[in-house]
Amino acid sequence: MSELFLGLRCTRCGAEHDADRPAALCRSCPEGFLDCVYDYDAIAARLDWTTIRLRESSIWRWKELLPVRQEAPVVTLGEGGTPLLRCERLARHVGVRELWVKDDAMTAPTGSLKDRSMAVAVTKAVEFGRRTICVDTTGNKGASAAGYAARAGLACVVFCDAATTPEKLYQMLMYGATVVRLDAPFAEVSAFLRSLVRSGTVDWYYCGRENPYRYEGKKTYAYEVVESLRRAPDVILHPSAGSLSVVKTWKGYQELINTRLWSGTPPRMVAVQAAACAPIVAAHVAGRVDVSPVVGQPTMATAIASGNPGPMGTLTLGTIAESGGTAIGVEEDEIQAATIRLSREGIFVEPSAATGLAAAERLAKTGWLAPDVTVVIDVTGVGFKDLSRMGKWLDTPPVLPPSTGAVMDYVRRTGIR
Ligand SMILES: Cc1ncc(COP(=O)(O)O)c(C=O)c1O
Ligand SMILES: [Zn+2]
Repeated sequence: MSELFLGLRCTRCGAEHDADRPAALCRSCPEGFLDCVYDYDAIAARLDWTTIRLRESSIWRWKELLPVRQEAPVVTLGEGGTPLLRCERLARHVGVRELWVKDDAMTAPTGSLKDRSMAVAVTKAVEFGRRTICVDTTGNKGASAAGYAARAGLACVVFCDAATTPEKLYQMLMYGATVVRLDAPFAEVSAFLRSLVRSGTVDWYYCGRENPYRYEGKKTYAYEVVESLRRAPDVILHPSAGSLSVVKTWKGYQELINTRLWSGTPPRMVAVQAAACAPIVAAHVAGRVDVSPVVGQPTMATAIASGNPGPMGTLTLGTIAESGGTAIGVEEDEIQAATIRLSREGIFVEPSAATGLAAAERLAKTGWLAPDVTVVIDVTGVGFKDLSRMGKWLDTPPVLPPSTGAVMDYVRRTGIR
């Protein structure tokens, strides 16, 4: 094991766990999430910007800050290193000085943010000598797990709810995964798989909610944004289910400071949910430190519809408080409008991934976002993953006779001159 990654520590009771433990939760407390601990001084001595920039642009540029064997090969499809796009029209629309979109949709290997983290989890599965991996998913995590399992030559079992889009289902099946669809909301699907793994009924490597290694991949959001901007934004908005993206992005900023790669004020972190299923928002608004489960209503933001984030929610509320951020729910019409607005900027995303833009609009209107701030919006899943839904928003063009009159008449009716 790398001497840079020191081991795991429980976020609840502080208990330490060995670095080579294929761990899930803390041994001492039933809901204790484990965090990865590193020797930052040793990393600082090895890692500088020149070294980093000489490496290929992927999450593995930051290998020293990931919990893997430094000398062993990794499982990769080229994840990370996604574009940070300055969007001046969107900045004007929202009413902020600078608005940047971190685009983890189109250029992520399986089309979503999950690739940053799944590459790490599947690398760990290979390190631990496991042959079969499993995940619980609202769609994207399953598609990512299936893709990385295919890459590594492992078997993959995906458990999902009935709201998972057909596009994501087909993607998992094309990668060769076994897909189990349960007639239950995601929170129950997740609990079902975790109890199957815990009871020892199956011997599959769990790459889902309790895998402490997987989430570390999300820290690379922070590293990449600082590398691109050469500063931190004032605010980051992230579509949130369990929201460990928010927690780990924040950890990434602390690590840049700890390794002396950067100094400055880290951004305020905003967790965005669909109002129809917003347990973290409810807890934040009520000033609670733990998140109570909710029974969600149907939402087009299926990827982030998780009614019971459990201990992840507690960690997210902690990060929101520490960073001076907030949590906000957005309505269905706002999500649809933001999805269309991003497309009109050339950024084609699924509805869940557009919630950050919808939230920025709201937060600017309420004054929470001041006009002079720099904002980064994480867009997290490609539009192809929910194409059937978008088809219902659109008018399919008629099939015309190939005559100039008919064609020009039609084109002019669309507003083109
Ligand atoms: C498109 C998309 N955005 C955001 C998220 C949420 O990420 P997190 O689990 O860190 O809240 C997901 C998770 O499923 C997702 O699929
Ligand atoms: Zn513990």
